[in-house]
Amino acid sequence: QLVVHRSPAEIAPVTRALRGAGRRVVLVPTMGALHEGHRELIRHARRAPGATVTAVSIFVNPLQFGAGEDLDRYPRPLEADLDVCREEGVELVFLPEVTDMYPDGADTTIVPGRLGDELEGAARPGHFGGVLTVVAKLFHIVAPDVAFFGEKDYQQLILVRRMARDLDFPVSVVGVPTVREPDGLALSSRNVYLSAEERPRAATLRRALSAGAAVSARGPEAVLDAARAVLAEEPALQVEYLELRDPDLRPDPTAGRARLLVAARLGRTRLIDNISVQL
Ligand code: PAJ
Repeated sequence: QLVVHRSPAEIAPVTRALRGAGRRVVLVPTMGALHEGHRELIRHARRAPGATVTAVSIFVNPLQFGAGEDLDRYPRPLEADLDVCREEGVELVFLPEVTDMYPDGADTTIVPGRLGDELEGAARPGHFGGVLTVVAKLFHIVAPDVAFFGEKDYQQLILVRRMARDLDFPVSVVGVPTVREPDGLALSSRNVYLSAEERPRAATLRRALSAGAAVSARGPEAVLDAARAVLAEEPALQVEYLELRDPDLRPDPTAGRARLLVAARLGRTRLIDNISVQL
């Protein structure tokens, strides 16, 4: 049975009472427009060990959108989202208004470390400060034992995990592999912005990452060259960055596990993707 809570004051005592009664509180933070990627997060959450209660938050967080970004046109199909939650067996939905989350604006915010200004953070100044601030608030309000984040937004996952550790949130942050369309395009609420002509071209990102990963035994330069070559085949893509980092996103990995990350513009849509690479 799905229960929707609209204010922090409403849901906070509920999750605390459930924990007091021996349940593990599991949280999946989202901005709604739920797709198969979100469903996969919810399924992982539902499979978490113990007597769990699964909470999904749906909140389009204005703090993480830059000027000129898509805050106003971000899709908000609320009824369909609640249906998805029902279908996936979610017990609690937290659905606050902006005024519930930021009643006095947002004077006090979380400042990510240097990684917050790199990669996505370089292209979107202030973005990760906005993400970490809302995630910190959700962690305080819902007080989850476990929280699930997608590898689709790999830098977000790493930054949230680091924040939880640095600021002593008693939550374990779990990453879930990226869910993709049959042609490899990572599912995203923003894919609806792609035109019929752009849509097939968007799969180039994944093909480039796979091409890089396929030659990983030949070293970092070979990985980047192979990925670059595929990206260059699609002139409609404007690449913003293509970088190889270690799993914690430190630069210049030379051996072992690494992460290849890409961001590109296709028309007015910004696409990101990443892949695990074994150097
Ligand atoms: P949103 O874009 O709605 O994504 C919610 C969660 O779903 C994130 O953890 C994201 O990584 C994950 N996700 C999205 N697409 C996915 C895919 N194709 N496969 C697997 N997981 C996927 O990310 C946010 O919202 C916000 O920044 C948020 C964390 C909610 C803070 O506002």
